[in-house]
Amino acid sequence: MYEPGLERIEIELLLEGVFRHYGFDFRSYAYASLRRRLWKRIETEGLSTVSALQDRVLHDPEMMNKLLLDLSINVTAMFRDPQFYVTFREKVVPMLRTYPFFRIWHAGCSTGEEVYSMAILLEEEGLYERARVYATDINEVVVHKAKSGIFPIDRMQEYTENYIKAGGKRSFSEYYTAKYDGALFSPALLKNVVFSQHNLVTDRSFSEFNVILCRNVLIYFDKGLQERVHGLFYESLATFGVLALGSKESLRFSKYESCYESISAPDKIYRKVK
Ligand SMILES: C[S@@+](CC[C@H](N)C(=O)[O-])C[C@H]1O[C@@H](n2cnc3c(N)ncnc32)[C@H](O)[C@@H]1O
Repeated sequence: MYEPGLERIEIELLLEGVFRHYGFDFRSYAYASLRRRLWKRIETEGLSTVSALQDRVLHDPEMMNKLLLDLSINVTAMFRDPQFYVTFREKVVPMLRTYPFFRIWHAGCSTGEEVYSMAILLEEEGLYERARVYATDINEVVVHKAKSGIFPIDRMQEYTENYIKAGGKRSFSEYYTAKYDGALFSPALLKNVVFSQHNLVTDRSFSEFNVILCRNVLIYFDKGLQERVHGLFYESLATFGVLALGSKESLRFSKYESCYESISAPDKIYRKVK
Protein backbone atom coordinates (compact mmCIF):
# COMPACT_ATOMS: atom_id res chain seq x y z
CA MET A 1 0.00 0.00 0.00
CA TYR A 2 1.44 3.36 -1.08
CA GLU A 3 1.17 6.19 1.42
CA PRO A 4 0.26 9.50 -0.29
CA GLY A 5 2.28 11.56 2.22
CA LEU A 6 5.37 9.44 1.70
CA GLU A 7 4.89 9.44 -2.04
CA ARG A 8 4.86 13.23 -2.05
CA ILE A 9 8.14 13.30 -0.12
CA GLU A 10 9.70 10.91 -2.60
CA ILE A 11 8.49 12.93 -5.57
CA GLU A 12 9.83 16.13 -4.05
CA LEU A 13 13.19 14.47 -3.40
CA LEU A 14 13.34 13.16 -6.95
CA LEU A 15 12.56 16.60 -8.39
CA GLU A 16 15.09 18.24 -6.09
CA GLY A 17 17.73 15.73 -7.18
CA VAL A 18 16.95 16.24 -10.86
CA PHE A 19 17.22 19.99 -10.42
CA ARG A 20 20.49 19.90 -8.48
CA HIS A 21 22.17 17.31 -10.64
CA TYR A 22 20.87 18.17 -14.13
CA GLY A 23 19.50 21.72 -13.74
CA PHE A 24 15.98 20.86 -14.98
CA ASP A 25 13.52 22.42 -12.60
CA PHE A 26 10.18 20.62 -12.50
CA ARG A 27 9.62 21.46 -8.83
CA SER A 28 6.73 23.83 -9.57
CA TYR A 29 4.98 21.80 -12.25
CA ALA A 30 1.35 20.88 -11.61
CA TYR A 31 1.49 17.95 -9.18
CA ALA A 32 -1.27 15.61 -10.42
CA SER A 33 0.00 15.51 -13.99
CA LEU A 34 3.61 15.19 -12.83
CA ARG A 35 2.73 12.28 -10.58
CA ARG A 36 0.87 10.46 -13.35
CA ARG A 37 3.80 10.80 -15.72
CA LEU A 38 6.34 9.67 -13.14
CA TRP A 39 4.31 6.55 -12.46
CA LYS A 40 4.10 5.77 -16.14
CA ARG A 41 7.89 5.80 -16.32
CA ILE A 42 8.18 3.76 -13.08
CA GLU A 43 5.93 1.09 -14.54
CA THR A 44 7.60 1.07 -17.96
CA GLU A 45 10.96 0.50 -16.29
CA GLY A 46 9.56 -2.32 -14.14
CA LEU A 47 10.26 -0.42 -10.93
CA SER A 48 7.98 -0.16 -7.94
CA THR A 49 8.74 3.09 -6.12
CA VAL A 50 9.49 6.73 -6.88
CA SER A 51 12.74 6.33 -4.93
CA ALA A 52 13.82 3.53 -7.26
CA LEU A 53 13.25 5.84 -10.21
CA GLN A 54 15.23 8.55 -8.43
CA ASP A 55 18.17 6.16 -8.07
CA ARG A 56 18.08 5.31 -11.78
CA VAL A 57 17.65 8.89 -12.96
CA LEU A 58 20.47 10.31 -10.88
CA HIS A 59 22.97 7.66 -11.99
CA ASP A 60 21.99 7.32 -15.62
CA PRO A 61 21.77 10.39 -17.91
CA GLU A 62 19.91 8.27 -20.48
CA MET A 63 17.12 7.75 -17.97
CA MET A 64 17.07 11.50 -17.40
CA ASN A 65 16.54 11.99 -21.14
CA LYS A 66 13.62 9.59 -21.07
CA LEU A 67 12.12 11.36 -18.07
CA LEU A 68 12.57 14.71 -19.77
CA LEU A 69 10.53 13.46 -22.69
CA ASP A 70 7.90 12.09 -20.30
CA LEU A 71 7.60 15.32 -18.36
CA SER A 72 7.76 17.78 -21.17
CA ILE A 73 4.60 16.66 -23.01
CA ASN A 74 5.33 17.56 -26.59
CA VAL A 75 1.90 17.07 -28.14
CA THR A 76 1.39 19.63 -30.89
CA ALA A 77 -0.06 20.12 -34.37
CA MET A 78 0.17 22.41 -37.37
CA PHE A 79 -2.41 25.20 -37.30
CA ARG A 80 -3.59 23.87 -33.94
CA ASP A 81 -6.86 25.65 -33.05
CA PRO A 82 -7.33 27.01 -36.60
CA GLN A 83 -9.51 29.89 -35.41
CA PHE A 84 -6.50 31.25 -33.53
CA TYR A 85 -4.72 31.76 -36.87
CA VAL A 86 -7.80 33.36 -38.45
CA THR A 87 -7.89 35.89 -35.62
CA PHE A 88 -4.14 36.37 -35.78
CA ARG A 89 -4.46 37.26 -39.47
CA GLU A 90 -7.33 39.65 -38.81
CA LYS A 91 -6.15 41.36 -35.66
CA VAL A 92 -2.39 41.02 -35.32
CA VAL A 93 -1.16 41.03 -38.92
CA PRO A 94 -2.40 44.63 -39.59
CA MET A 95 -0.36 45.78 -36.61
CA LEU A 96 2.73 43.87 -37.79
CA ARG A 97 2.39 45.56 -41.18
CA THR A 98 3.15 48.88 -39.53
CA TYR A 99 6.59 47.63 -38.44
CA PRO A 100 9.58 47.55 -40.80
CA PHE A 101 10.98 44.68 -38.73
CA PHE A 102 9.63 42.58 -35.89
CA ARG A 103 10.61 39.74 -33.58
CA ILE A 104 8.49 36.73 -32.65
CA TRP A 105 9.25 34.28 -29.87
CA HIS A 106 7.68 30.80 -29.79
CA ALA A 107 8.30 29.76 -26.18
CA GLY A 108 7.78 26.01 -25.75
CA CYS A 109 7.77 25.31 -29.50
CA SER A 110 8.01 21.52 -29.14
CA THR A 111 8.77 19.84 -32.50
CA GLY A 112 8.13 23.08 -34.40
CA GLU A 113 4.68 22.61 -35.95
CA GLU A 114 3.54 25.96 -34.52
CA VAL A 115 6.65 27.68 -35.89
CA TYR A 116 6.13 26.35 -39.43
CA SER A 117 2.46 27.32 -39.25
CA MET A 118 3.37 30.89 -38.33
CA ALA A 119 6.09 31.03 -41.00
CA ILE A 120 3.52 29.97 -43.62
CA LEU A 121 1.04 32.58 -42.38
CA LEU A 122 3.67 35.35 -42.47
CA GLU A 123 4.82 34.27 -45.91
CA GLU A 124 1.25 34.41 -47.23
CA GLU A 125 0.74 37.84 -45.70
CA GLY A 126 3.95 39.12 -47.33
CA LEU A 127 5.56 39.69 -43.94
CA TYR A 128 8.04 36.87 -43.64
CA GLU A 129 11.02 38.95 -44.79
CA ARG A 130 10.45 41.41 -41.94
CA ALA A 131 10.31 38.74 -39.26
CA ARG A 132 12.98 37.28 -37.01
CA VAL A 133 11.59 34.21 -35.29
CA TYR A 134 13.07 32.68 -32.15
CA ALA A 135 11.76 29.23 -31.29
CA THR A 136 12.75 27.66 -28.00
CA ASP A 137 11.99 24.65 -25.87
CA ILE A 138 13.43 23.12 -22.71
CA ASN A 139 13.88 19.83 -24.53
CA GLU A 140 16.85 19.55 -26.89
CA VAL A 141 15.47 16.43 -28.59
CA VAL A 142 12.35 18.23 -29.82
CA VAL A 143 14.33 21.31 -30.86
CA HIS A 144 16.52 19.06 -32.98
CA LYS A 145 13.44 17.51 -34.59
CA ALA A 146 11.97 20.94 -35.24
CA LYS A 147 15.09 21.97 -37.16
CA SER A 148 14.83 18.92 -39.42
CA GLY A 149 11.52 20.12 -40.90
CA ILE A 150 10.28 16.56 -41.29
CA PHE A 151 6.82 15.72 -40.00
CA PRO A 152 4.78 12.51 -40.12
CA ILE A 153 3.15 12.13 -43.51
CA ASP A 154 0.10 10.53 -41.95
CA ARG A 155 -0.81 13.80 -40.27
CA MET A 156 -0.83 15.83 -43.49
CA GLN A 157 -4.52 15.35 -44.08
CA GLU A 158 -5.38 16.70 -40.64
CA TYR A 159 -2.92 19.59 -41.13
CA THR A 160 -4.34 20.39 -44.55
CA GLU A 161 -7.82 20.65 -43.02
CA ASN A 162 -6.46 22.84 -40.22
CA TYR A 163 -4.63 25.01 -42.75
CA ILE A 164 -7.81 25.61 -44.74
CA LYS A 165 -9.82 26.40 -41.61
CA ALA A 166 -7.00 28.70 -40.48
CA GLY A 167 -7.51 30.86 -43.57
CA GLY A 168 -4.66 29.39 -45.66
CA LYS A 169 -4.43 31.06 -49.04
CA ARG A 170 -2.64 28.48 -51.17
CA SER A 171 -2.52 24.75 -51.46
CA PHE A 172 -0.94 23.27 -48.32
CA SER A 173 0.94 20.69 -50.36
CA GLU A 174 3.04 23.50 -51.89
CA TYR A 175 4.94 23.70 -48.64
CA TYR A 176 6.26 20.16 -48.42
CA THR A 177 7.52 17.24 -50.43
CA ALA A 178 6.86 13.65 -49.47
CA LYS A 179 10.08 11.87 -48.52
CA TYR A 180 10.04 8.23 -47.36
CA ASP A 181 7.34 8.23 -44.70
CA GLY A 182 7.81 11.90 -43.86
CA ALA A 183 6.80 15.28 -45.19
CA LEU A 184 9.82 17.53 -45.65
CA PHE A 185 8.88 21.19 -45.32
CA SER A 186 10.49 23.85 -47.44
CA PRO A 187 13.76 25.02 -45.83
CA ALA A 188 12.89 28.56 -47.03
CA LEU A 189 10.37 28.66 -44.17
CA LEU A 190 13.27 28.49 -41.73
CA LYS A 191 15.37 31.23 -43.32
CA ASN A 192 14.54 33.70 -40.55
CA VAL A 193 14.08 31.21 -37.73
CA VAL A 194 16.54 30.46 -34.94
CA PHE A 195 15.85 27.37 -32.81
CA SER A 196 17.49 26.95 -29.43
CA GLN A 197 17.11 25.32 -26.07
CA HIS A 198 15.70 27.66 -23.42
CA ASN A 199 14.17 26.89 -20.07
CA LEU A 200 11.33 29.20 -19.08
CA VAL A 201 11.83 28.33 -15.42
CA THR A 202 15.52 29.04 -15.05
CA ASP A 203 16.67 31.08 -18.07
CA ARG A 204 16.32 34.81 -18.60
CA SER A 205 14.87 36.77 -21.47
CA PHE A 206 17.19 37.17 -24.43
CA SER A 207 15.64 39.95 -26.51
CA GLU A 208 12.69 42.29 -26.90
CA PHE A 209 9.79 40.84 -28.86
CA ASN A 210 6.75 42.18 -30.69
CA VAL A 211 4.92 38.86 -30.39
CA ILE A 212 5.32 36.04 -27.88
CA LEU A 213 3.46 32.79 -28.40
CA CYS A 214 3.47 30.46 -25.44
CA ARG A 215 0.64 28.09 -26.13
CA ASN A 216 -0.16 24.97 -24.13
CA VAL A 217 2.88 25.25 -21.87
CA LEU A 218 1.74 27.18 -18.78
CA ILE A 219 -1.01 24.65 -18.23
CA TYR A 220 1.65 22.30 -16.86
CA PHE A 221 2.95 24.84 -14.32
CA ASP A 222 1.58 25.65 -10.88
CA LYS A 223 0.25 29.15 -10.15
CA GLY A 224 3.52 30.50 -8.74
CA LEU A 225 5.52 29.35 -11.71
CA GLN A 226 2.92 30.67 -14.17
CA GLU A 227 3.22 34.05 -12.51
CA ARG A 228 7.00 34.00 -12.79
CA VAL A 229 6.80 33.17 -16.49
CA HIS A 230 4.21 35.94 -17.01
CA GLY A 231 6.78 38.27 -15.47
CA LEU A 232 9.37 37.05 -17.94
CA PHE A 233 7.00 37.62 -20.87
CA TYR A 234 6.01 41.06 -19.61
CA GLU A 235 9.68 42.09 -19.43
CA SER A 236 10.39 40.60 -22.85
CA LEU A 237 7.52 42.27 -24.74
CA ALA A 238 7.80 45.65 -26.42
CA THR A 239 4.99 48.12 -25.65
CA PHE A 240 1.93 47.08 -27.68
CA GLY A 241 3.54 43.68 -28.06
CA VAL A 242 1.22 40.71 -28.39
CA LEU A 243 1.02 37.70 -26.08
CA ALA A 244 -0.73 34.54 -27.28
CA LEU A 245 -1.58 31.75 -24.86
CA GLY A 246 -3.18 28.33 -25.27
CA SER A 247 -6.93 27.80 -25.30
CA LYS A 248 -7.03 26.63 -21.67
CA GLU A 249 -4.68 29.33 -20.41
CA SER A 250 -5.26 32.98 -19.58
CA LEU A 251 -3.97 36.05 -17.78
CA ARG A 252 -6.87 35.96 -15.34
CA PHE A 253 -5.79 36.11 -11.70
CA SER A 254 -2.32 37.20 -12.74
CA LYS A 255 -1.04 40.51 -11.41
CA TYR A 256 -0.04 41.30 -15.00
CA GLU A 257 -3.65 41.13 -16.22
CA SER A 258 -4.12 44.90 -15.93
CA CYS A 259 -1.02 45.52 -18.07
CA TYR A 260 -2.70 43.95 -21.10
CA GLU A 261 -5.86 44.46 -23.08
CA SER A 262 -7.60 41.57 -24.71
CA ILE A 263 -7.42 41.38 -28.49
CA SER A 264 -9.49 38.21 -28.58
CA ALA A 265 -10.76 36.56 -25.40
CA PRO A 266 -11.63 33.18 -26.98
CA ASP A 267 -8.31 32.97 -28.80
CA LYS A 268 -6.32 34.15 -25.77
CA ILE A 269 -4.55 36.95 -27.61
CA TYR A 270 -3.51 39.98 -25.55
CA ARG A 271 -1.73 43.26 -26.18
CA LYS A 272 0.62 44.82 -23.65
CA VAL A 273 -0.59 48.35 -23.00
CA LYS A 274 1.45 49.47 -19.98
C1 LIG B 1 2.25 20.73 -25.34
S1 LIG B 1 3.73 21.38 -26.00
C2 LIG B 1 3.11 22.84 -26.79
C3 LIG B 1 3.69 23.03 -28.17
C4 LIG B 1 3.09 24.19 -28.96
N1 LIG B 1 3.35 25.44 -28.31
C5 LIG B 1 1.63 23.98 -29.20
O1 LIG B 1 0.81 24.70 -28.61
O2 LIG B 1 1.26 23.10 -29.97
C6 LIG B 1 4.51 21.99 -24.53
C7 LIG B 1 5.99 22.26 -24.72
O3 LIG B 1 6.47 23.01 -23.60
C8 LIG B 1 7.78 22.62 -23.36
N2 LIG B 1 8.18 22.99 -21.99
C9 LIG B 1 7.80 22.43 -20.82
N3 LIG B 1 8.43 23.02 -19.80
C10 LIG B 1 9.22 24.00 -20.35
C11 LIG B 1 10.10 24.96 -19.79
N4 LIG B 1 10.33 25.01 -18.49
N5 LIG B 1 10.75 25.80 -20.63
C12 LIG B 1 10.54 25.73 -21.98
N6 LIG B 1 9.71 24.84 -22.56
C13 LIG B 1 9.05 23.99 -21.75
C14 LIG B 1 7.73 21.11 -23.57
O4 LIG B 1 9.01 20.56 -23.79
C15 LIG B 1 6.80 20.98 -24.76
O5 LIG B 1 7.51 20.86 -25.96
